[in-house]
This record gives sequence, C-alpha cells and structure tokens, in this order.
Amino acid sequence: MDTTKMKDNRIPFKRFHERNEKLEDQYDETYFSKQHAKGKLTARERIEYLMDEGSFREIDAFVKPAGMPNEEKFGDGVIVGYGTINGRQVFLYAQDFSFMGGSLGTVHARKIIKVQEMALKMGHPIIGLIDSGGARIQEGVASLAGYAGIFMQNVKSSGVIPQISVILGPAAGGAVYSPALTDFKFMTRDTSYMFVTGPDVVKEVLNEDTTFEELGGAEVHASQSGVADLIYSDEEHTLMGVKKLLSYLPSNNVENPPVTSVENAASSKIEKLSMLLPDDPNKPYDIVEVIKLISDKDSFYEIAENHAQNIVIGMARLNNQVVGIVANQPKVMAGTLDINASKKAARFVRFCDSFNIPILVLEDVPGFMPGKSQEHNAIIMHGAKLLYAFAEATVPKITVILRKAYGGAYIVMNSKNMGGDFNFAWPTAEVAVMGPEGAVKILNRKELLSAKDPEELKRKLIADYKENVANPYVADEKGYIDEVIDPSETRDIIINAFALLENKVEQNPQRKHGNMPL
Ligand code: HXC
Repeated sequence: MDTTKMKDNRIPFKRFHERNEKLEDQYDETYFSKQHAKGKLTARERIEYLMDEGSFREIDAFVKPAGMPNEEKFGDGVIVGYGTINGRQVFLYAQDFSFMGGSLGTVHARKIIKVQEMALKMGHPIIGLIDSGGARIQEGVASLAGYAGIFMQNVKSSGVIPQISVILGPAAGGAVYSPALTDFKFMTRDTSYMFVTGPDVVKEVLNEDTTFEELGGAEVHASQSGVADLIYSDEEHTLMGVKKLLSYLPSNNVENPPVTSVENAASSKIEKLSMLLPDDPNKPYDIVEVIKLISDKDSFYEIAENHAQNIVIGMARLNNQVVGIVANQPKVMAGTLDINASKKAARFVRFCDSFNIPILVLEDVPGFMPGKSQEHNAIIMHGAKLLYAFAEATVPKITVILRKAYGGAYIVMNSKNMGGDFNFAWPTAEVAVMGPEGAVKILNRKELLSAKDPEELKRKLIADYKENVANPYVADEKGYIDEVIDPSETRDIIINAFALLENKVEQNPQRKHGNMPL
C-alpha cells in the first residue's frame, strides 16, 4: 500500500489513510529483523519478490483475531491476495511467522479459504507461502476445523487449478497436510522443514534424538521421502523456481499450457543421439543428455531430481509446446522400476493428464526391481499406480523405446496396448519378456546343465535370442511398435506426432471416480 501518494484529507479519506498507516506501522524494524536473523525473508518481502512489481492486491488485511494475545494487530498472521506473475493472474497466501509463529487460528484459516475459493471459482493457480507452527494451540479445536476447511478446498481444487506450496520455514503439524494435497512442494535448504510431529515429541514418544534438519529438512524430503519436489539454496532461488514452474502450466484444467515463441532450430537431424548409447547394452548412460538433445534449448525443468533417481520426470518444450517427460534413467539402478520410481512417475503422469500436458516417455527399463524389500513394501500396488496413471491419461502420449523394454515394465511405460498414441523404437531397442541372460537360463536350463562347454553354449544362445527375440523388429512386425526410427530423427518425428495429436479426443467412462491402487 503506497501511503506516500498525495492524501485527500476529507473525513472518509482521513480514516482510510489512518487505517493504512496503522497497518504499515505494524511492519516495523523488529518485524523485519526477527525473520532476517533466522536467514528468512518476511512474508511481505516474499510476495514482493514473487509477484510482478506493484501487481499484488491484499485482501482482508484488516481482519483481527478476537480474544488472542495479539488482538490489536491486523491480519492474524497471514497475508492473502492476488496479483500477476509474468503477467498471469495468481492467488496467494503468505503466512507471517512473526505473528504467533504463523500458527493457524480461525480467522487465519478463513482468510486462506477465501482465496482458495476465489482461485477455484476464477480458474487461477494458487500459491501458499508456508511458515507456520501448525494449529494455533490457544484456539483448540477451532483451529483444527480451520485446517479441515483448507484441506477440503485443496481437494476440491485438485485437478482444476494448479496448487503450489512453498515451504519457507517450519511447516509443523497440520501445516504439512495442505502442501501434501497440492501439486508441487518447494522447500529451501537449511531454513525450511516439514514434520507431523517435531523432535521434542519424537524424543518423548520414541526416546529418539533427532534434529529439525534430520527429521524433516529440505534435503531429507527431496531425496528420501520425496515430499519436496523442488529445493533451492535460498528463498530468492526458491521463488524463482516457482515462477519457472508456472511458466509451463496452464491456469486451469480447461486451458492448454502456455506456448512460447522462441525461434527454434529448423528441423534437423541430431546425429549425436545415435552416439549416446554405449555399444554394450549393459553399460549405463545419462538419459538427461537424451532429453536435453531432444527438447528445445534449455527448456528441460527436472522435478524431484534427487528422489527415485532411477526415473526422471520434468517439464520441457518441443517446438515451444509444453510436454511432460517420463524417462527411465539407466545410470541409476539400471533404470529399474521400484516403488519410489513408480509413485514418482505415476503422480507426475496424473498431474500432466489433469492439466492437458502431453506426455513423452523415453524408455530403457530392464524390469521391476526384484527382492523381498520391494515385495514386502507392496511393489505390486505401487507399480500398479503407474499402470493406472498411464491407462487413465487421455492427453497425447508418445513412447520412444531407446534400449530395454522388458516384461511388466515394458507394459507399464505407455506401451501400445496401454493406450500409447505413437510408439516408436530405436534400432537398439530390445523388446521382450525378459533380458537374454534370464531367458536363456529358463528356456535352456537342461541343455546348459548337460553341455560340455556351458559358457560357450550360453554365449551362442544369447546371441540367437538377441537376433530372434530381443530387438525392435518382432514388436514392429506385430504392430506393437508403430515405427522403428533413426535416433537422429527423433525430435522431428515426435514434434510431428504431437502436432497430429493436437485435436485428440479420448474420454474415460463417466463415473464418480476410479479406485486407483493407493
Ligand atoms: C500457537 C505458536 C505455535 C502454535 C509457535 N507458536 N507455534 N503459537 N500455536 N502451534 C508461537 C510461539 O509460542 C512463539 O510465540 C512464536 O510462535 C515463535 O515460536 P518459537 O518457538 O519461538 O520459534 P522457533 O524457535 O523458531 O520454533 C518454531 C517451531 C516451534 C518449531 C514451529 O514454535 C514449535 O515447535 N511450535 C509447535 C509446533 C507443533 O507441534 N505444532 C503442531 C500443532 S498441532 P512468542 O509469543 O514467544 O513469540 C497440529 C495438529 C493439526 O497442528 C493436525 C491436522 C491434521
């Protein structure tokens, strides 16, 4: 609010200015210094950094919490409003830790719910800047009810408008579940943490010693738990990340993602693509290099980079059109699908499908991860999530098989019969029920046992299997692959295929909702 403008001192305006001045006075030196001392920005500074200059309009700035220790203060610890980011409208709430630790009381909750409702009704993304000690203890059950109201709005908005949570301080107790219900969670290293119960409770209940960082810091959530999708070293970079992510997203589920108008290189062969794969099919390579070569220059924005690194997900542009990429990563666990990779990719596929973002799958997967740990932790159910997500997705879906496409993992990764719109393969593709080693051991066990030179026989059988089975041509000749393509032409071919799919119409049967394997 700019109070430096010329003031109109007629009675109604005098009161208007006085009120604004009082609000400004609230944001004094101590307000800033307390947050800065913790290495954090204030709620106001964060908003200023995130939104286009001068575009933010605060609403409900003057509401007060009745009967609270700070009842003379305005706002109840949260700033809510709307404005633009790179010219596009968004709604926002920013919790103010300087007011009762950003804890959530009834008035605080009512303000958040108000902008959630407005964002949903008007079809704009909503961003939550979270810095909160959770449910306001003094307000008891009323604050719990406040959270319930926020969660209800989160669920109503899910798949209708993009919801982004940015954790910039504590997100304790109830404060974690709204982010969990939103599409993307950003965190800042060293200054943000998320946990249902803090280190004190952990000590009391389990007699375990732990720290904020160990229990729920940004690193932990970005790598182990997978709760955080994107983390940055400081708040400024975190907020820049939010702006970047938004640039790929439509404002709601009836819009298409924004199209940029950058000059791209004219259609051309990318010879380097053919050279990327090692001669030995068991040697790793970095799928991110392939993604970067195929997509528009500098357009790939990886999500959840440190979690389940055996699968890579992210946004990219192909000839200025946004696509979601799901790619096996051969350099981590040979690109095998395990529980975490299945969950990570499934959630991303569902996000893309909700918001009209076409999906490109780059496949090199030797199968599902075997073992007791995976089985006992329900790889069956988690792997099925990815199957479900691809099967129900009606956006354009293209798969390119680069190398391995074995067994159940072949099916899952948007195979033709799972609804792939275009399924391409490179000449290096190996499409089969299992890899040559495993197949030969099962099919030729008796011959191998009685052979004079089992190693020599095994080599010959593997060579025969590769020649006759583990190649792209069997699948191609049966129509499970649409075309075996020259790797250097991949970019042009998929750009063309996505263009063909621009008017794709596909609908799932009407129902209340499916029962996905959770
Ligand atoms: C009321 C709170 C509060 C809360 C913090 N404050 N959390 N007030 N309700 N939940 C107040 C503090 O009393 C303090 O007030 C000020 O905020 C700053 O807090 P500090 O503790 O001084 O700050 P710091 O050392 O940075 O620690 C931050 C913190 C800690 C880690 C968040 O305050 C904390 O552990 N708070 C409780 C977290 C928690 O257990 N929440 C769960 C609530 S139950 P003064 O006046 O001294 O400045 C819940 C269940 C909902 O949320 C479940 C729904 C599914």
